Amino acid sequence: MSFRTTTAVDYVEDVSPGRGALPPRAWYSSSDAASLSLNGRWRLRVSATADAEDDSFAEEGFDAGDWAEVTVPGHWVLQGDGSFGSPIYTNHLYPFPVDPPHVPTENPTGDHLRVFDLPADWPADGSAVLRFDGVESCARVWLNGTDIGEFKGSRLPHEFAVGHLLKTVGNVLAVRVHQWSAGSYLEDQDQWWLPGIFRDVTLLHRPAGSVLDFFVHASYDHTSGEGTLRVDSDVDGRVTVPALDIDVATGEPVTVPVRPWSAETPYLYDGVLATEGERVPLRIGFRTVVLEDGLIKVNGKAVLFKGVNRHEWHPEKGRALDLETMREDVLLMKRHNLNAVRTSHYPPHPAFLDLCDEYGLWVIDECDLETHGFTEQGWRDNPVDDDRWTPALLDRAARMVERDKNHPSIVFWSLGNEAGTGRGLTAMAEWIHGRDSSRLVHYEGDWDCRDTDVYSRMYAFHAEVESIGQGLDGGTHKRRELPFIQCEYGHAMGNGPGGIADYQRLFEKYERLQGGFIWEWIDHGIKHPELGYAYGGDFGEELHDGNFVCDGLIFPDRTPSPGLLEYKKVIEPVHIEGDGSDGTLRVTNRHDFADLSALAFEWSYQVDGETVEAGTLNVPSLAAGESADVKLPEPPADARGAETQWTVRALLAADTAWAPKDHVVAWGQFPGVSRPLPSVAPTDRPALGEKLITLGPASFDVRTGALKTIGGVSVVSPRLDVWRATTDNDDGAEWQSDTRYGVLWRTLGLHRMQHRLDSVEAGENALTVRTRVAPAAREVGLDTVYRWTSDGTRLRLTVSVTPEGEWTLPLPRLGVRLGLPEADQVKWFGGGPGEAYPDTRSASLVGRWQSTVDDLQTPYVRPQENGARADVRWAELGGLRIEGDPEFWFTARRWTTEQLDAATHLTDLTAGTASDSGSAAAVWVNLDHGLHGIGSQSCGPGPLPQYFLRAEPTEFSFVFSVTD
Ligand code: GAL
Repeated sequence: MSFRTTTAVDYVEDVSPGRGALPPRAWYSSSDAASLSLNGRWRLRVSATADAEDDSFAEEGFDAGDWAEVTVPGHWVLQGDGSFGSPIYTNHLYPFPVDPPHVPTENPTGDHLRVFDLPADWPADGSAVLRFDGVESCARVWLNGTDIGEFKGSRLPHEFAVGHLLKTVGNVLAVRVHQWSAGSYLEDQDQWWLPGIFRDVTLLHRPAGSVLDFFVHASYDHTSGEGTLRVDSDVDGRVTVPALDIDVATGEPVTVPVRPWSAETPYLYDGVLATEGERVPLRIGFRTVVLEDGLIKVNGKAVLFKGVNRHEWHPEKGRALDLETMREDVLLMKRHNLNAVRTSHYPPHPAFLDLCDEYGLWVIDECDLETHGFTEQGWRDNPVDDDRWTPALLDRAARMVERDKNHPSIVFWSLGNEAGTGRGLTAMAEWIHGRDSSRLVHYEGDWDCRDTDVYSRMYAFHAEVESIGQGLDGGTHKRRELPFIQCEYGHAMGNGPGGIADYQRLFEKYERLQGGFIWEWIDHGIKHPELGYAYGGDFGEELHDGNFVCDGLIFPDRTPSPGLLEYKKVIEPVHIEGDGSDGTLRVTNRHDFADLSALAFEWSYQVDGETVEAGTLNVPSLAAGESADVKLPEPPADARGAETQWTVRALLAADTAWAPKDHVVAWGQFPGVSRPLPSVAPTDRPALGEKLITLGPASFDVRTGALKTIGGVSVVSPRLDVWRATTDNDDGAEWQSDTRYGVLWRTLGLHRMQHRLDSVEAGENALTVRTRVAPAAREVGLDTVYRWTSDGTRLRLTVSVTPEGEWTLPLPRLGVRLGLPEADQVKWFGGGPGEAYPDTRSASLVGRWQSTVDDLQTPYVRPQENGARADVRWAELGGLRIEGDPEFWFTARRWTTEQLDAATHLTDLTAGTASDSGSAAAVWVNLDHGLHGIGSQSCGPGPLPQYFLRAEPTEFSFVFSVTD
């Protein structure tokens, strides 16, 4: 005989959205109705299963005095130093058996308790609503011992009518939160699983005659310059907009001349919706979004999205973000030229959307829906194709649309992410189209565009994107008529993403391509006492996806990574182009709406990398899309035969809401006089001693030909180096098997090259050392000759490399590595200030730079190759000056590549001293003739062929001297 008990927690596995909640409606703050935040310290008891404890804790008088305390909003697993359980990271695998709608018996459950009094001035009349803005993943709620309902839909609001239950003092609010529920099957986003009440809890007074739900319709007619406003409201009232002299009844349209809203010109009008019992402030942005001529047009113009995918993240608080953190995100986006954000993969905290309205960002608001783990079983049983789940899907769509419908910044509703295809998605799209015809519908999984208004893809390779731009991609009839966006591209995991400039060129070239959204905004590293930042696996998870959760343009502490600086340059809204040869530049306004009146232009002239003169450049206030040729001034006279450049910058002419005056928006750099290459007359002759050979300022080991000293500086001899600590993008994603060079390089043995010495020849005017560099077990090798010459004070090294055997792989790097006993300050003339690689070098500006060795490092959460500076003419560190012929890539670090390669967290890397490294070096310097590109293969394409470092016969030189 078998039986199953029915328990009080059956709702956990119920596919329905919940019970007891009020219908969804617009989210707003009232001007005059009272509200009480219930954020703060709550009592918490965590149990291992959903039904370990009965519900007596919800009774009035229950003594929770011995319970722990947590902060709400918050996730309990990020509080209590691990005593409440730990975070789990999986990309798409469900961390529980897939048997929908069942969840494991082991279901961490947090009973939350809070006792509160009503403020003294809380009105005695009217009703009240209790609002939860986000609880993961399922909650049951009691107020003063009465069960008021339960809900799922973690990143969506849920409200309950509670006025009849409230008391003046001693209200007991009890919330039982289960980590796993049927809802978890719909929330398989690539992120940490973090249970808790992670957004605000608020009690809202609802006066008699107060506003219930309302929908602001504010369109803009670009042909007449007029806006039409109509505010539909469940409760009748009046709408006033003083600046527009509007005073109309709800439901009544009014058309007046207005300034339109756009992400570039986010003009908002303050208004008020007044009903009998309440006044609600409105921030109205007039804009019209349509699909026309196969393009997404706003206010009559096709727009180009320069976007990013934003998960909510804070390294200590997880997805419980405060307003200042949200503002920081928006300001960082604006300062880096972004104009769009996809709220991957759920509606964000509503305050974030207010900020997008205010500062100006186009938004794809995405529903809290992903069922990606079903891909493991060929999408069998996928909830989005199973009618039993459709009410839950529609509930999620409605909660998003109703909450967020009054934000002008939202131009697309997105059905969710990576949920396959199915009838449930179609039902959502139909409902959304019916409810809000003023916006478009997005969903990436729908390649036939059955339900969507845009053809959207993720990580499409450049060639495919180009063919889509050309309309050669085929597809359904409907799809062929639609514009294209990449809702995810440029996987910013670790060092990278590479190749985004090449994408941007395509986006700008083909009308159909309306831009993209980099994956993703921030690394979801969790601050950790021993590891610095933790990632998947660091909490002992059974299944995890490692550092795939750290793939953002900013580090967990919100410091911009080089990827963000690259992106800023790539998407800059003004192009300043030319080769400098005829003293003329072409300036193009690449905004969609704004003219150039907000910008001031400045030229400067560099001699040997140092600015000798600067001035303002007159650029006409070009309208969006226009270009003009602009003359540079006459070059300043005496450049002493040195290298020169022009640098032109577009700066903010005045303070804006998002950056101060003089903030650099765009720049261009143009060569003037080219660089005189260093030359060393080979006048000195190698002198053979007993142990040493001397040549000019240098001494060499007589037996090995290895350089020992230059002037007074002892060095670990430069020798050929081809290895780099592979990046996440080198290693590639598991599903890309044939071109994962990080893996192939290691298989070939490039990380363990052996150096065979063939000869040391002290000739007339050169010391020549012949070697062969090759990995064990392979026939391929690099015949490498080092030729040293000197004029008595300077020392020149020429390295000649000839590949032998059949090289089928590109090389990670090609150059020399040397060691120095010490170095701290570094100066260089070349690309900077930050790192650059062949396909991530757009933001590298040629000039004179300085740094410490420590500051040259880029702190990728999982250590990997980083920190190279491009186009270096010369560098000085540790008492040496190194000049390149030609320019070189410069890297210096306090550990070896091998140590960097072995490290899993930044805390594994510690600076050594020359003596404890046992090799007379504490700082390792790479002088590279070439580096392989970076690409984006941790999820997308590898480097494009033009960024490959191919093994071919090569020669390059360096000139060494000592600094004073
Ligand atoms: C996409 C997905 C994102 C993220 C990304 C890889 O497939 O939509 O959520 O997983 O890949 O980082």
